[in-house]
Amino acid sequence: MIDDVRNAREAALTDVNAAAGVDELRAVDIEVLGKRGALAGLKTTLGSLPIDERKAMGQAINEAVAAVQAAVDARRAELGAGAMLQRIADERLDLTEVTTRRRRGHPHLSTQAWERLEDVFIGLGFQVAEGPEVESDFYNFEALNMPRSHPARSGFDTLFTDYSDDGTVLLRTHTSPVQIRVMQTIEPPIYMVMPGKVFRRDTPDATHMPVFHQIEGLVVDRNITMAHLAGTIDAFTKAFFGKGFNSRLRPNYFPFTEPSAEFDIQRPDGGWIELGGCGMVHPNVLRAGGLDPEEWSGFAFGFGIDRMARERHGVDDLRDMFSNDMRFIEQF
Ligand code: PHE
Repeated sequence: MIDDVRNAREAALTDVNAAAGVDELRAVDIEVLGKRGALAGLKTTLGSLPIDERKAMGQAINEAVAAVQAAVDARRAELGAGAMLQRIADERLDLTEVTTRRRRGHPHLSTQAWERLEDVFIGLGFQVAEGPEVESDFYNFEALNMPRSHPARSGFDTLFTDYSDDGTVLLRTHTSPVQIRVMQTIEPPIYMVMPGKVFRRDTPDATHMPVFHQIEGLVVDRNITMAHLAGTIDAFTKAFFGKGFNSRLRPNYFPFTEPSAEFDIQRPDGGWIELGGCGMVHPNVLRAGGLDPEEWSGFAFGFGIDRMARERHGVDDLRDMFSNDMRFIEQF
């Protein structure tokens, strides 16, 4: 009888050690140590043995079960470690791989123009400020002398957000709201440019994009006149485009400036390019910014950055600048 136990134990150990994987080991475990296993079978015969034999036999069976269990545990640890090593080997990445073509990025065409504009204005004594792209109706319209019913509002194809029930949160349609924020934050004299993204519900075409970039200018000081505005625009034109360029102002209308003008620049070949809007800051706008129009006066201007980049590089279609075709983008 003791021999039967020894044989069952040896057979079980052989099976356990022969298991080639974790799944196979699990099956072997159930087979040799489960209810239908040889050792469990021998246990059921104990009851029919004489008492002294029963004791020795019980002890031998318990020892065999413990030994097989220990072997299963050891084998499981061994197979588990092997599985881990296998997985590490399978998933190994060669981080030393050298690809033949390396790319070095550079700022986008519009970013280059944006940065150059900042440089030029800083050279003229201006500071740089930025405002939020999501604005309130107050900053984008009201404070800029465009109350709710003002017809000039319809000139901006505004994108409202779902954020507020009363439709007062929108993607800013221009950088002019930053004028108000600057006036509310710092004391004059103010010599500030404010570049940034603006949004309009426009269908993209060769000269329009629903998202584009503007740079706003604001000067508030004592006794500022239209002559300062014209002189600043001309100084900027020559600094940015070159000495051969000229500028002119043409009468126009904006609710937030009075008088208002459109400004154009003239290429050395004589052709005129329309650049942006400008004018003397409206007294209501100074008041909305917390300033007394009797004490302070100022001028403001705003123009499109992408359009300048397009002009400078002779890009035919504005859409090419933003469709991110590397073959196009890499040229600049
Ligand atoms: N905010 C105007 C626009 O987007 C431009 C402008 C700025 C005009 C400042 C006058 C003064 O069209």
